[in-house]
Amino acid sequence: MTALLVALHILAAVIWVGGMFFAYVVLRPSVGGIEPAAERPRLWRRVFARFFPWVSAAVLVLIGSGYALVFGPFGGMAGVGLHVHLMQGLGWIMFLLYGHLYFASWGRFRKAVDADDLQAAGPALAGIRRIVAANLVLGLIVVAIGASGRYWP
Ligand code: HEM
Repeated sequence: MTALLVALHILAAVIWVGGMFFAYVVLRPSVGGIEPAAERPRLWRRVFARFFPWVSAAVLVLIGSGYALVFGPFGGMAGVGLHVHLMQGLGWIMFLLYGHLYFASWGRFRKAVDADDLQAAGPALAGIRRIVAANLVLGLIVVAIGASGRYWP
């Protein structure tokens, strides 16, 4: 059971953080060259519509498997190491940032692109980009902490 929970936990982390890495580091600079420029937000609209359901599922799996590990095999909050407290704290910042991205920025961006309102789409996309940048940095840190923590002195 512990092995299954850890496997689900790490798969969710890989899908979310790896997806953000690809979107931010690889796709973002590549989309810059697409002409006409109005096609760029339309492409992001299609990309995010496919990526965010995976992220939403990953968030639920991370929370579910994380607390199942803590309150199952780890024997409660008092029994976990510093790395799990750090993972949980930074994890909740990531979850809240994603919630804001999904319910505020993504909604605004989707509506603007669907209405062909590219003036409004720009700032909404910038909001998504900022949150993805922050969550990518946090996600890489959390993965490093989560995977290495049990070997800390
Ligand atoms: C509610 C928040 C979270 C809780 C309660 C939680 C809990 C845990 C626990 C108990 C472990 C096992 C630690 C050990 O074996 O010493 C773990 C491992 C791990 N967690 Fe989390 N976690 C949370 C959020 C996250 C997030 C947001 C990420 C990444 C995006 C993440 C990535 C990892 C990774 C990479 C491991 C290492 C797996 C391994 O190599 O064994 N966790 N987590």
